[in-house]
Amino acid sequence: MKMPLDFPSLFPEVELIRDADLRSGVEAVWQELWQASELESVHDLVASPEFPYPHIPHNRAVVQMALAVASTFERFHSVTVDRDLLVAAALLQDASKLVEFSRDGDTITYSELGRQYPHAFWAAHVALKHGLPDDVCHIIIHHTPQAAKFPTSLEGKILYYVDQIDILAIHRDRWRKELIITK
Ligand SMILES: [Fe+2]
Repeated sequence: MKMPLDFPSLFPEVELIRDADLRSGVEAVWQELWQASELESVHDLVASPEFPYPHIPHNRAVVQMALAVASTFERFHSVTVDRDLLVAAALLQDASKLVEFSRDGDTITYSELGRQYPHAFWAAHVALKHGLPDDVCHIIIHHTPQAAKFPTSLEGKILYYVDQIDILAIHRDRWRKELIITK
């Protein structure tokens, strides 16, 4: 067994989750996936095999941007955002990268599990196993552009957009404009 992650040092934002069960559940999912991962250092986890930028700063940037959007919504529009849901989902939506990627020499590729299941499926599976709420698992499973649907919750939509904005900083603009006639 590997040394457990020092999770609050890795993601200080976890302390913002007020619900104690939710907070410990988020860490439990990471710890289980960490033990299943072939990585020796969590800092070797990449954002994607296509752009091997370190995952942790990407994940933290997504949390911080989501919180900034939540504060802006609340300050200017009195729109309330569930910060527990926002932070828990932000910390979990990519956690299965720990087992979805594999190293082949100098190349980072997809693991057997990463080829068999869509991105984030395994994070949602482990989250459900640990009793995390359906609202969190909904965001995990729908946060990726490969998902069939957009997230339906406000928190999921915020995370969807800030995740893509951060990809602009660490990789490139992946959005394309298409003209679609809907009626
Ligand atoms: Fe993701």
